[in-house]
Amino acid sequence: MRGKLIVGNWKMHGGLAANAKLLAALAGGWRAMPDRAMAVCVPFPYLVQARDALSGSAVAWGAQDVSAHAAGAYTGEVAASMLADLGCRYALCGHSERRQHHGESDALVAAKANASLAAGVTPIVCVGETLADREAHRTEAVVLRQLSAVVEALGERLRDAVVAYEPVWAIGTGRTATPETAQEVHATLRESLRRSGAGGVRLLYGGSVKAANAAALMAMPDVDGALVGGASLDANEFLAIGLA
Ligand code: PGA
Repeated sequence: MRGKLIVGNWKMHGGLAANAKLLAALAGGWRAMPDRAMAVCVPFPYLVQARDALSGSAVAWGAQDVSAHAAGAYTGEVAASMLADLGCRYALCGHSERRQHHGESDALVAAKANASLAAGVTPIVCVGETLADREAHRTEAVVLRQLSAVVEALGERLRDAVVAYEPVWAIGTGRTATPETAQEVHATLRESLRRSGAGGVRLLYGGSVKAANAAALMAMPDVDGALVGGASLDANEFLAIGLA
């Protein structure tokens, strides 16, 4: 059985004092469960704070990006081996904000996922269509193109990755995909993963997930959890999503 995974993406939010409160509330409020796991992906400078605050708790932690390169003259980049060194469990790869604002291509995202897996850090590979793509009925073509770059790079090792479907038009907009719309895309992704021998990969949904809509999304057969932005900055809301 694929257990549910609820991942918070803090994006570029936080500060030592606010993080301390949020992390303490999560560490104290989340209990280990056999079929549910929780993690937070925090900005690089706060990884050590997350590690220390969450140690001994059932909440895992990760980064929001990772370099495609192993080491070397890449100023400003953070290698997967450095994340592994800290004990980091996850790294988001190819979040739409990185694709959009930092020009990340499908090939670069695949290389990042590859580097992450090679270092033992689980990549959470994000895919999703823009509103223009959806309106032009290109949703399936876009997400399958994004996924296939990763399938080509990782092959069967894709089994150890996580994939998040995040329609760009639903991120931070308050406009969530209906559970049926999410399920339709997840089923397409699942079929493609299955053909690549990775049908068991966890497929998260992301885009304006809140406590009020999480249960309906999570009830869909191919939705194995959520990638939560804004609502993950509020401990009670995020914990409620985790239990939905
Ligand atoms: P949101 O962001 O929940 O604020 O829409 C989700 C994400 O970008 O991962």
